[in-house]
Amino acid sequence: MNKQADLKRIAELRNIIEYHNKRYYQQDAPEISDTEYDRLMRELQDLENSYPEEFSATSPTQRVGAAPLARFASFNHPTPMFSLANAFSNEEIVEFDNRIKRLAGVDNISYVAEPKLDGLAVNLIYEDGLFIRGATRGDGTTGEDVTQNLKTISSLPLKMKRTSHNPVPSFIEIRGEVYMEKEPFQKLNLRRIENGEEPFANPRNAAAGSLRQLDSRITARRPLNLFLYGIGDVKDINFSTHWEMLQALAGWGFPVNKFIEKSYDINSSIKYFERIGVMREKLPYEIDGIVLKVNNISLQKNLGNVSRNPRWALACKFPAAQATTVVKEIVVGVGRMGTLTPVAIMDPVNVGGVMVSRATMHNEDEVLKKDVRVGDTVVIQRAGDVIPEVVKVIFEKRTGKEKKFKMPTHCPQCGSEVVRFEGEVAHRCVNISCPAQLKEHIRHFASRGAMDIEGLGEKVSAQLFDAKLIADPADLYFLSKEQLTALDRQAEKSAQNLIDAINKSKNPLLDKFIYALGIRHVGERTAKLLADHFGSMENLMASKQEDLTVINEIGPEIAVSIVEFFHEQKNIDVMNKFSKAGVIPQKKTIRANAPLQGKSFVFTGTLENMGRNEAKLFVENLGGTIHSSITKKTTYVIAGSDPGSKLDKAKSSGIHIITEEEFLKLIGR
Ligand code: IVH
Repeated sequence: MNKQADLKRIAELRNIIEYHNKRYYQQDAPEISDTEYDRLMRELQDLENSYPEEFSATSPTQRVGAAPLARFASFNHPTPMFSLANAFSNEEIVEFDNRIKRLAGVDNISYVAEPKLDGLAVNLIYEDGLFIRGATRGDGTTGEDVTQNLKTISSLPLKMKRTSHNPVPSFIEIRGEVYMEKEPFQKLNLRRIENGEEPFANPRNAAAGSLRQLDSRITARRPLNLFLYGIGDVKDINFSTHWEMLQALAGWGFPVNKFIEKSYDINSSIKYFERIGVMREKLPYEIDGIVLKVNNISLQKNLGNVSRNPRWALACKFPAAQATTVVKEIVVGVGRMGTLTPVAIMDPVNVGGVMVSRATMHNEDEVLKKDVRVGDTVVIQRAGDVIPEVVKVIFEKRTGKEKKFKMPTHCPQCGSEVVRFEGEVAHRCVNISCPAQLKEHIRHFASRGAMDIEGLGEKVSAQLFDAKLIADPADLYFLSKEQLTALDRQAEKSAQNLIDAINKSKNPLLDKFIYALGIRHVGERTAKLLADHFGSMENLMASKQEDLTVINEIGPEIAVSIVEFFHEQKNIDVMNKFSKAGVIPQKKTIRANAPLQGKSFVFTGTLENMGRNEAKLFVENLGGTIHSSITKKTTYVIAGSDPGSKLDKAKSSGIHIITEEEFLKLIGR
């Protein structure tokens, strides 16, 4: 064994795996197969096992991929996790302040005011700066040990940062909130609905459901985040104020909410409450109020607790953005994959400052569970940017004239049969030329992650479709400027822009094109796997189920969906139309003897003759790969003008550096 070489390999593997984790979990754009990833992970694991002294708490072997658990172990919190007393009005806040002043015998109290995050509370244990265990709050005394899942949250430090003015304690319990941002939450739900899975009711449930997964590989794919706001037991360090403690948390590398403020008296606390209330809608995550905490820690200790609530803290809750209105109608919308979604149309009502007249109910089961009928008076709720939802029916207001909802047996848009596949909650229209589906389909085709045709959003797609100018995405390439200018709202200039944008999309990357086709179960990630494996549309279209399932991660369900898609005559016609229009996806070279096969490129600085994306295409077409950072495997670093630090790194690691001209020669330009 050559120890030095092994140690070098350990460091290298850690970097490589970190890089692929990012590609996979954060960018949803993996570059290697799962088998290859597992191989790297195993290699690292084996090496780490041979050199236990090289253990690192921040190694990727510590973060992801534990086998599913049968159940969570229970965890006794070293110090109990209390909850907060609530206040719903300014009067109650003033009462809280008066009580503390009286008990403390002083006439002014300083507070720290914090947003009250709407997620789930966790307790993290660090020993000598290393994350060793983490648990949910549970009943405050005993929670569930979700250590493995917490490790998948990339903002959770596996190791506390150590600085000279921020020494690391030998033991500390750190408390905070795991949450999910609003936008990723909505995306997650859309995906779930399309897959026929039950959507989460709100970001808090989504966060809780994701953190409490027995299979941490599922948690790793969920967009979870974390803010820390307190501590339990701590050794070696004494903080004199809550504020000072928060600064220390931030210094150790923990995410601390940036809107936390010191507030010198109760009036400024109330102003903070009002200010945050106004900001609330604009925040990317949900909050349901603020928390006031007495800043002075010895005063906190003196004040103590009443039952399970500390006397020194108060949750000031926003009034819930709810309103009462009457359901006029329950209509059924049709999505791209034909998913039918019941939507309640209501008398318009102001909910927390926004007029609302529609609320989604996701699927039939939800309507039946809540027993929402046309004519019912209902409570609706709007939480942040989340689509308004029906909370409950006010049954006392029923007159008996209300009409029960029934999922249509035929698509409200095209009259085709509606089916509910086994094991799915969604009903679907099975007609692939359903106009509602087609409009959605065209919008998807043109969207950002797909063909990226600027100016072709939901409205324009529907407009073109309704005007019968297009019936499928391939028709886009036969549109003329005259046809567009004849439409409302399409001025000369914007018509030309749209035509230009459409033409510009004629040479898409193969994976983007595959994704754009909107094949059921083929998201961006699967599209990339297919492009890498088949290299061309022709190969993909000719593939059989068994050719597809050899690809890691492609199971029979996806394979069947792909084969069926390319066997459908309508889709074959559309594909032919694409060819006729000159829409030709870039081929991917998968030949083993491709000239750049096995060569790995890293760019630094600006290229004069082509954009990076174009350069990437050339390299990939010739069998090479592009990476964003230099590793031992990098073959060439291409130095454009104004190169960055990568150039220095390439020099110091002796990697072949070439000019843009040399690069052009290499790719035969
Ligand atoms: S402090 C003893 N600070 O609210 C102090 N809690 O009802 C306990 N929460 O279980 C918590 N944001 O899940 C605190 N900035 C914040 C918070 C916060 C949200 C949650 C937490 C806790 C619940 C208390």
